[in-house]
Amino acid sequence: MDLLLFAPEYRPNMSSMIRSAEFFGFARIYIYDQNQLLVAPETKKGRADIQHLARVWTAGAVDHIEIITITDPLAFLAQYPGRKVGTLVNEAAAHLRDFNFQPPDLLLFGSEKTGLPPAIIDLLDAAVYIPSRGHTDCLNVAVSFGIVVEHAIQGG
Ligand SMILES: C[S@@+](CC[C@H](N)C(=O)[O-])C[C@H]1O[C@@H](n2cnc3c(N)ncnc32)[C@H](O)[C@@H]1O
Repeated sequence: MDLLLFAPEYRPNMSSMIRSAEFFGFARIYIYDQNQLLVAPETKKGRADIQHLARVWTAGAVDHIEIITITDPLAFLAQYPGRKVGTLVNEAAAHLRDFNFQPPDLLLFGSEKTGLPPAIIDLLDAAVYIPSRGHTDCLNVAVSFGIVVEHAIQGG
């Protein structure tokens, strides 16, 4: 099973998802870094600071997980051998408790403001939704990440 963060917008959310991925035993995580959250500062001090902060923000997880940046998500998805399973804020998607995850699946998480774009949704093999019981539209992406990944590694 693999994980893809599509264009995260906020470092706290991205860091939290990296931390959760490592906590759940993933050795790697793919990130389409459209917002350049992973781009290292130019100065030596800036790079040292950001490495320190990355360790703090991820509680050390960055030392135990490979972060693989992808630059062409459409090409990446086209060659990915397993099912592409998107997480969507869409009641018509499979509800999480009803979905059976498989080991070769790639799980995709969208960006905070706009979610997964239509060009990516078109390439999905399946989509899952965490049903709401309240009035709030959707969950924070890092919260949904923890819920979906924990469920997925049990096989769903
Ligand atoms: C804040 S939401 C995006 C909201 C955006 N307005 C939309 O409709 O997609 C950011 C990401 O969190 C995840 N997410 C949030 N709530 C979810 C839910 N109830 N079910 C599945 N994924 C969810 C998805 O990966 C989504 O792309």
